[in-house]
Amino acid sequence: MIDYDQVASDYARHRQVHPGVLQGICQEVDITNTFRVLEVGCGTGNYIRALERLAGPACWGIDPSRAMLDEARRQPGEVCFQQGRAEDLEFPAGFFDLVFSVDVIHHIRDHRDYFKEARRVLTAGGKVCTVTDSEWIIRHRQPLAVYFPQTVEVELRRYVPMDQLRGLMAQAGLEGMREEMVEFPYQLSQVQAYRDKAFSALHLISEEAFRGGIERMERDLQVGPISCVARYVLVWGTK
Ligand SMILES: C[S@@+](CC[C@H](N)C(=O)[O-])C[C@H]1O[C@@H](n2cnc3c(N)ncnc32)[C@H](O)[C@@H]1O
Repeated sequence: MIDYDQVASDYARHRQVHPGVLQGICQEVDITNTFRVLEVGCGTGNYIRALERLAGPACWGIDPSRAMLDEARRQPGEVCFQQGRAEDLEFPAGFFDLVFSVDVIHHIRDHRDYFKEARRVLTAGGKVCTVTDSEWIIRHRQPLAVYFPQTVEVELRRYVPMDQLRGLMAQAGLEGMREEMVEFPYQLSQVQAYRDKAFSALHLISEEAFRGGIERMERDLQVGPISCVARYVLVWGTK
């Protein structure tokens, strides 16, 4: 288990918005300034703030970690940040046009309760988007799977497989499920985010495996930047 209160400052320092996720959301949903949007497990609030800046809807972000929310509140913007859990959304029925989460579904203990709650708080025709990693993405992560191959099996054990995710959404009464993979190629030139373990999988491998990966990374970075690709899959469902 990762204690997000302990890692909040590292997340605030290193975590960046994946541009493909924002683009994917804005292509699927025509967000206007009359929209209400909820990010579940918003952490330090990167995504919900970016969406607010981009499209101007009324925005809420919930997260169980106080320290993550403190970091989120330090940034400018009108997003309403509240402490809460996916399984128990403290909002009225039919309140949101869009409910989304990024990198959170594998932390949620009861997925059935979450999707039931997400559907309840959506307007008719509202959408839920789960941004996560498929098995293929986990196996092909560059740099994580390359420098820290021990993360692959650990991650496959905690992530929700795609077919299971679709099944859970259907059971909650969501319809029109659709998946889209987004990619963002970039050049990695700094090892610090990895040294600070700003990626939760690095907390779940042995110290020896972690140090070995950091040494290999540092060696390769002396030669030049490392070519990487950040990928996510966006899983959509409609009420
Ligand atoms: C990997 S971080 C992602 C944060 C943010 N979505 C982002 O992409 O930057 C996972 C977040 O999920 C939150 N979380 C853990 N369990 C949760 C739950 N049951 N309901 C909602 N959020 C949860 C953690 O506190 C943490 O902030």
